[in-house]
Amino acid sequence: MAKRVCPVWVGYILASPVRRLFQNPEKILGSYVEEGMEVVDIGCAMGFFSLPLARMVGSNGKVICVDVQEKMIRSLEKRARKAGLWSRIETRTCHPDSLCVNDLKEQIDFALASAVVHEVPDVSRFFSEAYEMMKPTGRLLIVEPKGHVSKKAFDRTASVAEQSGFKVIKSPRIRRSRSILLGKKGKSQRFPSS
Ligand SMILES: C[S@@+](CC[C@H](N)C(=O)[O-])C[C@H]1O[C@@H](n2cnc3c(N)ncnc32)[C@H](O)[C@@H]1O
Repeated sequence: MAKRVCPVWVGYILASPVRRLFQNPEKILGSYVEEGMEVVDIGCAMGFFSLPLARMVGSNGKVICVDVQEKMIRSLEKRARKAGLWSRIETRTCHPDSLCVNDLKEQIDFALASAVVHEVPDVSRFFSEAYEMMKPTGRLLIVEPKGHVSKKAFDRTASVAEQSGFKVIKSPRIRRSRSILLGKKGKSQRFPSS
């Protein structure tokens, strides 16, 4: 059965500044993202995390925002322009079964997939494509909402990630969420493991 994709009206709620009260992007992402980095926001919707990421990478960095819904991307573009961050952002409307990032081979320092993996039809392909785009020292943060994703389902996601070549570095605490920080197996660790 096809997985349900987040409706556009929910995108407006997810982008609300009120969400910062329990999910602060700077606190969640601050230890992984540095100025000048090239990062990807997978399933970016209207950019709740993309715009803070664009501030964190600075004028020499870049945020590639990928989403399967054109309407989410168009709204993100408007918000980025209004915030004066458009020059640091690239948007891509992808396909349900592909992130359309094949040109980014080992180029990405950090990627975020917040509340998206449970909507992706082929999780194995998702992680294979994510693996290919990450630098050897890159980090991928997977965050899933506790309300939608059971511990068992999240453990299955972690297991698919490991089969695709990732290792779990740590499980950061993020309110109302299950999360894992992934790195490539056998590659050096740039961030502390606890
Ligand atoms: C619940 S929203 C989360 C949005 C955002 N990451 C956040 O945390 O606020 C999930 C987003 O993932 C997108 N999405 C769903 N399936 C996708 C896929 N196969 N590839 C890329 N994006 C997808 C949806 O269109 C939606 O914008």
